Amino acid sequence: MIDLRSDTVTLPTPEMRRAIAEALLGDEQKREDPTVLELERRVADLLGQEAAVFLPTATMANQIALKLHGRPGDVLLAHETSHVLVYEYGGAAAHAGLMTVGLAGRAGRVTSEQVRAACEPSSKVADQRVAVLSLENTHNNAGGRVWPLGELEDVVGTARELGLAAHLDGARVLNAAVALGVDPSEIAGRFDTATLCLSKGLGCPLGALLAGSAELIERAWREKHLFGGAMRQSGIVAAAGVYALEHHVDRLADDHARARLLAERLEGAGVPVDLEQVESNFVQIDVAPLGLTRAEALARLRDEGVGLSATIHPTVMRAVTHLGITDDDIDRAAELIPRALGAAGVGHADRTDHAAAAKRTPSGISRDPNPR
Ligand SMILES: Cc1ncc(COP(=O)(O)O)c(C=O)c1O
Repeated sequence: MIDLRSDTVTLPTPEMRRAIAEALLGDEQKREDPTVLELERRVADLLGQEAAVFLPTATMANQIALKLHGRPGDVLLAHETSHVLVYEYGGAAAHAGLMTVGLAGRAGRVTSEQVRAACEPSSKVADQRVAVLSLENTHNNAGGRVWPLGELEDVVGTARELGLAAHLDGARVLNAAVALGVDPSEIAGRFDTATLCLSKGLGCPLGALLAGSAELIERAWREKHLFGGAMRQSGIVAAAGVYALEHHVDRLADDHARARLLAERLEGAGVPVDLEQVESNFVQIDVAPLGLTRAEALARLRDEGVGLSATIHPTVMRAVTHLGITDDDIDRAAELIPRALGAAGVGHADRTDHAAAAKRTPSGISRDPNPR
């Protein structure tokens, strides 16, 4: 199967497996694993932060960050379709006791005005303060959209002015940096804390980091123990991260180029793709104009040997490029997808209709259990 369901499906390359096999190890909980320490140092530098802590998942990194920034009863602001609000099982409430307020916004982005409006003084006599703003870049549910640096600076600046902590869910922040052609620190360095995931475009089997000030990361260590995420000889997996930072960052540009090529070829073959949305390694396809349900479309594609996946938007599915996808795979997928969807012959007029239909599509959010 040409597996375009997600960039989480990657398997370690032979070279990465070699790095894993040769890793120097120690007891991570005692801060004695040299490979973990090296990975943490590299990620802190890369993200423009003082320190970083190695964790099993990006979800745990986000959840620990929220605990660092808020007290029970405080409010978390985030885009309404962001990972922290939609896919983390209510962790913000369960772990940090935070109330969540989802903000609507185009392309996974929110504005300073929205943040300001959400921070109007509470009508409650006791304070119920907005404590933390979490932004996601690239934004998964928006289709891998990238924040322009100026907009990000503006919104994070507003958060600071209002006394909010700013967290970046940068599970795919390296995709954002590569897409913008900037150093990752220019994005992540302006936040109080930033999550980086190793098991998406970077191609590691597992792992994530939370970066921030030395003081915040020291506090994060306590939370890591509390979550049961303090490990032992975890350099065995951190080694994959060190390898990926050396070999798999620049190549994210290839994933982006392949996504764009696929999108252009699909669009040319009459598949409803909005090229404007393709900014990193995701291609979103709206099946509504084709007269298919998404379940039918996904089943037909599976039968043809192409794996796509559902998104939060009820009629939209996505193709995600990654380390395991070659130019030949893109070539083949660009032939198989239109055929499976019966798209051939859908002309430009239909595509114009698609744009209108996309605008009409209710922002109704489906809780697909497995869209990542
Ligand atoms: C934006 C974003 N944040 C966080 C996560 C969580 O990653 P993990 O599966 O490592 O917990 C994901 C996973 O898809 C994601 O897309």
